[in-house]
Amino acid sequence: MIELKNVCKSFKLGDQVVKALDNINFSVKKGEFVAIIGPSGSGKSTMMNILGLLDIADSGEYLLDKLSIKEASDSTLADIRNKKIGFIFQSFNLLPKMNALENVQVPLMYRGINKKESQKRAYEYLEKVGLKGREKHMPSQLSGGQQQRVAIARALIGEPEIILADEPTGALDSKTGHEVMDLLQELNREGQTIILITHDINVANKAKRILKMMDGKLEEV
Ligand SMILES: Nc1ncnc2c1ncn2[C@@H]1O[C@H](COP(=O)(O)OP(=O)(O)O)[C@@H](O)[C@H]1O
Ligand SMILES: [Mg+2]
Repeated sequence: MIELKNVCKSFKLGDQVVKALDNINFSVKKGEFVAIIGPSGSGKSTMMNILGLLDIADSGEYLLDKLSIKEASDSTLADIRNKKIGFIFQSFNLLPKMNALENVQVPLMYRGINKKESQKRAYEYLEKVGLKGREKHMPSQLSGGQQQRVAIARALIGEPEIILADEPTGALDSKTGHEVMDLLQELNREGQTIILITHDINVANKAKRILKMMDGKLEEV
């Protein structure tokens, strides 16, 4: 489903060049739950941005469902991002002026699905993540764990082939973090493919497969 071959990405900082990704080879099959663990600055977010089509590698190949990403146009990339990928971020990234229900509807609105249908599905997905009855709450009226559940419902509503989660428990206390990880494990048991990035070994241990990122290099644990 996902295949990276010899992927490199560097950043220039003044006259210094940082190799954020140094010849990455990595593949993920449907139904896997993969954690990438590594310290701050090791290249995890860069990897996630490339996997999520938010950034492009300098060299190497990225195949997503056999499609070569470097040959795709910007509009194709935006379309793939909307249909195939669900994002979960450390800081939830909810829209503050929209309630929970409206936040979850956003990906379907982008697809041009009508309001009634997207609302119906948003109710279903909020129930799935344990937030029945909180649909009309604004993000500021929800706890961190609840906000992350809204973000998970928003990631799931488009039925993406893959969920990319960058430090999804990073802003949560440990109990709430465990609950969010239990939810991700349950989604994976239902067949959802998940790639998760973390600096926390306890979080990584909830995945079925762990890789370690160090100075831009990735290796299987
Ligand atoms: N936009 C950028 N400009 C310059 N350097 C960057 C940029 N993004 C990341 N880096 C550098 O690339 C390296 C990897 O960063 P990052 O992928 O964010 O690591 P992590 O998510 O593991 O903390 C770091 O040295 C970081 O400073
Ligand atoms: Mg990071």
